[in-house]
Amino acid sequence: MPDSGEETELPLTFTPLGTALGARVTGLDVTNISTEDARVLYENWLKYHVLVVPGPIISEDQLVDFGRCFGALENARRQSVLALRPEIMVISNIRENGETVGALPDGELSFHFDRLHQKVPNKAGVLHAMEIPDAGGDTWFANMSLAYDTLPEATKARLEGLTALNTYEYGQTHSANKKLDADAPTAVHPVVRTVPETGRKALFICRLMTDRILELPEAESRALLDELCDHAESQRFVYAHQWTPGDILIWDNRCTIHARTDFDGRQRRLMKRVTVGDDTPPVH
Ligand code: SIN
Repeated sequence: MPDSGEETELPLTFTPLGTALGARVTGLDVTNISTEDARVLYENWLKYHVLVVPGPIISEDQLVDFGRCFGALENARRQSVLALRPEIMVISNIRENGETVGALPDGELSFHFDRLHQKVPNKAGVLHAMEIPDAGGDTWFANMSLAYDTLPEATKARLEGLTALNTYEYGQTHSANKKLDADAPTAVHPVVRTVPETGRKALFICRLMTDRILELPEAESRALLDELCDHAESQRFVYAHQWTPGDILIWDNRCTIHARTDFDGRQRRLMKRVTVGDDTPPVH
């Protein structure tokens, strides 16, 4: 066949990453995302909760364009010397003159929703892998809708109308290490929330940030939170992502929690993140 010189567009394909959640996207040119591509991406992100787009390392402008397919982006809380655009949050263990250049530099990070301690937590997070260690530093995602659906009916009934206090000390990776200032932001959210576009319910508590179910006595609250976190973090609800440089991964922060595994601190890990904001507080 003679080469006509015309480029043939591949259809967007979504291949499930397992039974819990997530799909791998092929056929997407991240440097040139059409309105129709953005619509199909959004529809499948609602369905799979996590999308992984493998590819070459892209520019910050292109990462911002990708993130905007899912909503308006927030600026990073702290600007890094390794970022040019205000929307880019750098997550890295790289140190310059003894100072970290990014957030969440080292090691293991327990399961959390991003910004659950704020009145309106964000809608989605996007991570783009630039440099990764030889082993570890994987990011795990758990499907909180599936975790909710599979609770015993009696537990679902018990959770009706419950709310929880969520707190966070910036930079902490485990709840036991949290030390809160008097002015630290805190937020009360329903223990079960609904994702507006799908009407699906999801557990909305996590090990790192949820301190207390407000309607229950302390001991009962602790026991129920431990039971719910143990349930949600079980392997059948989890997709564990092992990074390859160039990967772009987007998660739905309304119905998935994520965590990071430990890695050798002598090896560099550099991720760039953009954060999709939300406009309404979570409701049951
Ligand atoms: C995050 O929680 O945004 C960071 C996850 C990671 O470093 O893999």
